[in-house]
Amino acid sequence: MTTFVLFGGTGDLARRKIIPALYSAFVNDRLDASFRFIGAAREGLQSEDYRQRVADAIAQFGGKVSGGTPEKLAAFLAVTYYQKVDARIPEDFEGLRAQIPVSEANPTLFYLATAPNIFIPVVEQLHAHGLTAGNARVVVEKPLGRDGQSAQAINQALRQYLHEKQIYRIDHYLGKEMVQNLLALRFANSFLEPLWNRKWIQDVHISISEQVGVESRGDFYDQTGAMRDMIQNHLLQLVSIVAMEPPVNADPDSIRDEKVKALRALHKFTPEEVSKKTVRGQYRAGAVDGKAVPGYQTEPGVPTASRTETFVAIRAEIDNWRWAGVPFYLRTGKRMATRSAEITINFKPIPYAIFGNGQGPMRSNRLVISLQPEESVKLFMKAKEPGEGIRLSEVALDLDFAEVSTSRRVESYERLLLDAMHGDLTLFVRDDELMAAWNWVDPILQAWQNDSEGLKSYIAGSWGPAAASYLLAQHGAAWGEEYVEG
Ligand code: BG6
Repeated sequence: MTTFVLFGGTGDLARRKIIPALYSAFVNDRLDASFRFIGAAREGLQSEDYRQRVADAIAQFGGKVSGGTPEKLAAFLAVTYYQKVDARIPEDFEGLRAQIPVSEANPTLFYLATAPNIFIPVVEQLHAHGLTAGNARVVVEKPLGRDGQSAQAINQALRQYLHEKQIYRIDHYLGKEMVQNLLALRFANSFLEPLWNRKWIQDVHISISEQVGVESRGDFYDQTGAMRDMIQNHLLQLVSIVAMEPPVNADPDSIRDEKVKALRALHKFTPEEVSKKTVRGQYRAGAVDGKAVPGYQTEPGVPTASRTETFVAIRAEIDNWRWAGVPFYLRTGKRMATRSAEITINFKPIPYAIFGNGQGPMRSNRLVISLQPEESVKLFMKAKEPGEGIRLSEVALDLDFAEVSTSRRVESYERLLLDAMHGDLTLFVRDDELMAAWNWVDPILQAWQNDSEGLKSYIAGSWGPAAASYLLAQHGAAWGEEYVEG
C-alpha cells in the first residue's frame, strides 16, 4: 500500500497544485491500486468534510487534468482521508501512526506543504512515532531557509531524523517538461556539445517573467523577495543544468554531482561587484495586458514603505574552464509585460561577413529553449531569402513540442510527486546544491541590505527598471525583447 500524507492539506499550495496533480496521476492510472491519500492539517475536520474540499479544489484548479470523470472523482475521494495533526501536539501523531502500515513493502510519502518553521517539529514527531522507518520519504517545499545559515540549520535538523536519500527538496521548475528536455538536448545529441563552451558562446540569458503580482501572498512575499523566491532556487537550478559537465551516467547522484560543481563555480560577488552586476526593482502601479494593476506597496499584506524587490537582474559568471568570461544574465520579475520562461544561448558572431550586400550586422545564431508558455526549442540562423541575389534574413528551426508529440502533458507537480513515490531523486535538490546556491546568494543579499538606495522602481506591465537594460547594454548585449536588428 502506498500512502501519501499531505501536511498543509487545507492550504493554498495543496489546493492549487498538489491535489490537482495527485488527481491527475490517479485519473491516468499512475498510482498503485492500493494508493491512499491522507490530508493533514490543524483544523478539526472529518474525512467527509475534507473530501468536499478536495472536490472543490479539483473543480477550481484541476482544469488541465485530462480524463477526469464523475466516476473517477468518486473513486479518488473514496481513497481520500483526513487526519487532524497539529505539529505541536504529539498525541495527534498517534492518530496518524494508527493509519500507516510502516514497512519496506509499504511506501509512505510525507509532503510538507507547510510554513518552513513547521518542518522540524513535524519530522521530529514522525520520527518519534516510528513513521520515518520502513520505506518513508519526506518532501519539503521551498523556501528552505532565508540564508545559508538557516538553510544549514534546517538541513542538519532534517538529517537528525532522516537519511539524505529520504529527503526530497522540491523545486517545481525541475519538473517542467523542458528542463528534462534540456538534459536530453545536451546529453543525447552530439552536435551541441562541441559548441557548448566559451569558445562559441557569447552569453547565456535565463529569464522568467511573470504577469501576476503577489496575489494573496503579500505578507509572505514581502519577507521573501524575488531573490529568495525565484533566483536562489528556480533560476540557479536552470543555470546548473545549462552549465554542468556531462554526467558519467543518468543516476540521480551522478547528475547532481555535476550540477553542484557548476553551482560552486559561480563567481561570488564582492559588495562593489554587487552594485555593478545586480539590479533590483519593485513595481509601481501600471497596466498588464491593458488592465490597470496596483503598485506593490498597496498590495494586501505589503507594508506601504516596503523595500522588498519584486524584480532582479544579474550578470553572473562561472569561474571554470568551460565558462570563464561568458556572462550568464539572469532575470525575473513580477508584473512584467509577458509571462515567459526562456533560456537563450547566444552564439558568437561570425568572424567575418562575406555578404556585403548593404545590410548592417545581423544578430548572431541563438538557441532559445522555451519552458513556458509554449514548450519549444528554436535555433535561429541566417538563410538566403528566396529570389534574386543574396539577401539574408533570420529564420528559425522550430521544434514545438505541442506539434511534434501529442503524448499527455504531465504537469511539473505530478511528475515530481510520482518521482518521489518511485524513489527517484534526480529532479530533487540535494543538500550540497542547496548550500552552494545560498553561498552565492548570501553576499548579494547582504550587500543589498547595506544599500537601501539600490532598489529601483518599474511600471507594472513593463520589462523592469531601465537599469536592467543598462546592465547588458554596457557590454554590448540586450535582452531578447529589446534587440533591434542592425
Ligand atoms: C513559485 C514562486 O515558486 O514559482 C511564485 O513562489 C511564482 O512566486 C511561481 O509565481 C512561478 O512558477 P510558474 O511555474 O508559474 O512559473
